[in-house]
Amino acid sequence: MSPEGKAIIAMDERLRDPAAKLRHIDVCLTEDVEYSRSAGFERFEFVNEALPELSLAELDLSADLAGKPLRAPLMISPMTGGTARGQEINRRLAAVAERFGIAFGVGSQRVALEAPERAEFFRVRDVAPSIPVFANLGAAQFARGYGAEQARRALAMTGADALFVHFNALQEAVQGGDRDFRYVARRLTQLCRELATDGIPVYAREVCFGMSGATARRLADCGIAGIDCSGAGGTSWAKVEAHCARTARGRELGLKFGEWGIPTSEAIVDVRAALPAIPLIASGGLRSGIDLAKAIALGADVGAMARPFLLAAHAGAEAVVRLVEDVLEELRICMFATGSGTVAELRGKLRPVDRPAGTSGHGART
Ligand SMILES: Cc1cc2nc3c(=O)[nH]c(=O)nc-3n(C[C@H](O)[C@H](O)[C@H](O)COP(=O)(O)O)c2cc1C
Repeated sequence: MSPEGKAIIAMDERLRDPAAKLRHIDVCLTEDVEYSRSAGFERFEFVNEALPELSLAELDLSADLAGKPLRAPLMISPMTGGTARGQEINRRLAAVAERFGIAFGVGSQRVALEAPERAEFFRVRDVAPSIPVFANLGAAQFARGYGAEQARRALAMTGADALFVHFNALQEAVQGGDRDFRYVARRLTQLCRELATDGIPVYAREVCFGMSGATARRLADCGIAGIDCSGAGGTSWAKVEAHCARTARGRELGLKFGEWGIPTSEAIVDVRAALPAIPLIASGGLRSGIDLAKAIALGADVGAMARPFLLAAHAGAEAVVRLVEDVLEELRICMFATGSGTVAELRGKLRPVDRPAGTSGHGART
């Protein structure tokens, strides 16, 4: 890292403070942080198959991600780590992910790069030895001087199979954080090239504001190996920041931008149209196995959820198990009742819901 980059990062005391990440967790557990608008899955419905000719018990849910097999196309989205409490949540979630053969991501590891004694609080491999695990760093950090060295440290401390680089320009703007995203594409290109020599895929992800097909294409030009188009309709990070703001203006900004973003259903369709073959994770507002099935039918390979898993982990390990079981049961029923023997066969089984002219299209969630 350049001396200039080091100086800028050293100056930023606010995000070094792991209390900021803990505050995010508390706010997500206790406050109204969800979008009022939906992810848009209710605008589509499955075409019922009255004659499935399948056994529900023998459906094939298998998928793969970052070069590893999954027993179901589901991921626990990145949220936390770097503190004892964050680690406890991660370990609870990662152990259940291992039990079901689904993927798992740790939250931003910046805190542990800047305070290396915190690296042990990102350890999950002992409870999740076989599943795909994603490390996590922010795009803004690469703009400010991070490179392959920091990425390799983040990957090593979690024993991760892949790296998520999260893009959160709107969140940074409303919270008065990193507001300079110049040179990110150039640095990302360099990063993808260097990590490719280690066999490590780099995935780009939003954090809830969604990705357009055009952006996805630019990211693919940088060499990213996959995308999580995390869109609007679930947890709103502008609203989270409104609840965390220390000033009246900060709160006002967060609330004004609380509904900003591309709904997840639209982001999936747009990214898939732009990049027909890219590994695509869908997150942001998936709240059931029906949403998961629709996300896949619209073009995603894997669906992911964050806040529902945080709430479940807070309730206990059994609640996490129940959440995964419920989501997968609902996915299976969607597959069965659409005659889809495999996850891939869900594609094209949706049709737009007919609505009387003049209605908004934002109805009850499925
Ligand atoms: C408590 C919490 C912390 C999060 N921290 C991170 C993070 O560190 N890195 C990241 O890429 N995304 C982070 N996210 C964003 C989620 O991974 C996800 O993209 C977003 O919450 C939308 O999904 P949801 O509607 O299922 O919550 C966090 C989400 C939550 C709820």
